[in-house]
Amino acid sequence: MTILIKNVRKANGRYGKLFVKLRTPAQKEEFYSYDVGSGNLSICCCVTFFIFTIIIIMGSICFYKERHHQTVSLIYPPPKLSDVPNWWYNRGEDLKKLLVDGMSQNQHVLKITHKQPHQPLPEERQTSPDVKKLVCYYAMPDPLKKFDSLQLKNIDANLCTHVNVGIVPIIDNTLAITSEMVQLFNETRELRAKNKDLKFLIWTGGVDYEKSFANMVKNHANRKAFIRSLKFALREYEFDGIDLDWEFPSAFNKERQHFSQLLQEIRREYQREKRDYLLTVAVAAVEGIAYYAYDVKEINKYADFANIMTYDYHFWTRGTPFTGLNAPLYPRKHEHSILGTLNLNYSLNFWHSSGLDKNKIVVGLPTYGHSFKLVNPFNHEIGAPASGYGNVGKMGFASFSEVCWFKQNNIYVTIVYDPDTCSPYLHSVNEWISFENQQSLACKTKFIRDQGYGGAMLFSLNTDDFGMLCSRNTIEYENDVPETFPLIRKVKSILFK
Ligand SMILES: *[C@@H]1O[C@H](CO)[C@@H](O)[C@H](O)[C@H]1NC(C)=O
Ligand SMILES: *[C@@H]1O[C@H](CO)[C@@H](O)[C@H](O)[C@H]1NC(C)=O
Repeated sequence: MTILIKNVRKANGRYGKLFVKLRTPAQKEEFYSYDVGSGNLSICCCVTFFIFTIIIIMGSICFYKERHHQTVSLIYPPPKLSDVPNWWYNRGEDLKKLLVDGMSQNQHVLKITHKQPHQPLPEERQTSPDVKKLVCYYAMPDPLKKFDSLQLKNIDANLCTHVNVGIVPIIDNTLAITSEMVQLFNETRELRAKNKDLKFLIWTGGVDYEKSFANMVKNHANRKAFIRSLKFALREYEFDGIDLDWEFPSAFNKERQHFSQLLQEIRREYQREKRDYLLTVAVAAVEGIAYYAYDVKEINKYADFANIMTYDYHFWTRGTPFTGLNAPLYPRKHEHSILGTLNLNYSLNFWHSSGLDKNKIVVGLPTYGHSFKLVNPFNHEIGAPASGYGNVGKMGFASFSEVCWFKQNNIYVTIVYDPDTCSPYLHSVNEWISFENQQSLACKTKFIRDQGYGGAMLFSLNTDDFGMLCSRNTIEYENDVPETFPLIRKVKSILFK
């Protein structure tokens, strides 16, 4: 970032103009200019003093205005937990399709029956309570993304206990494994050779734009076709299990019951085949979604463990136009009702008290962050008004390497650590980013360990600093030895201590 102060002589005196140039990882240069006043001052320091006085006054006025604006335009629905917070579903412009059809019309007639399936239940699945899990997601890289070039074979075979590889889409009720995917699955052989205990799972699902997951669970025949393709894939590619990441079942069309049915049928098939394949799920953390989406007791019965997606609590949307933390451990002071539920501590208690054993709770930790564009560069608190995604990242999703790049290439970047939520954020001009560093993940991992949960899930290997870009940026390192995957490595060092 460079700041240029230009004084333009005008007939009636001098104008001060503050030009700010921000560099972003996409190599775009963004210019911002702020008029800072006029006058007839000739001495340089007077000009500077004058400029900054005006900045402060303008900042205060804008701050006051925005604060005022914010209090009148808050759109949170009444804090009744029986209401699904629609704004939460509304994950940005192109995630709108997630909205459950008719949710708002049906809201008041909605009755939830957490019913058991009719079939006799196979034995409960027991996992060894003592073995902590470190589950890492690996996404097939997008060749168009500058910071997303991680090859599966280049991950550290001794870092995680489980690696979920995907996303494998579901087409016509079956796992659709492309030739690129086959190539990728083949890379697991090299890693297994280095660590025979490392487990690989097929990661399927994701945001269900096409309703392909919903369609697959709908009836017995469709589920059967899926399970057949699953058995084939596990055998053919020598995988250890499946991770079902359906975002998200709804309370309508019996989707929740059908999801439980699928889990039961997969488990029964594993037992029939006498295979100890794994069955895991990735589930919503937020109570307003999870309550409607899952029969938690059924998940507890059939799944080996559940990866709770305890992140994305705050990111920019039109409905939530202010900054917030991606994965706060606890609520902040003054956060009440629904806002007070958007944190790890609350979500994990919800899942545990709904019937999921502690050793089956694998706590999600992000290695990525969310960026925001501040309305006013001088109002940069948590909760400050934001007008869109920040420049860093794609749709505001910023990898740790991108955050480090931004910090290295701009001066006047301020990093703030909020000890109450174990979360850092940074700001510079109108860029604001909630991210994770070694300190925040160490803090959250200690919580996981001390509370006796089953382990940590990291999303993702791709968004950690695998290329050691952050190592040139000593602030992020406790020692000066550069390491690949510094964030996940930190989690590992504490989880297994
Ligand atoms: C899988 O990888 C091995 C080397 O690890 C290679 O010899 C083989 O041709 C690969 N198979 C496919 C289908 O890519
Ligand atoms: C964490 O959750 C528990 C159970 O809901 C609650 O009693 C406790 O106060 C929470 N801790 C904080 C710091 O909010």
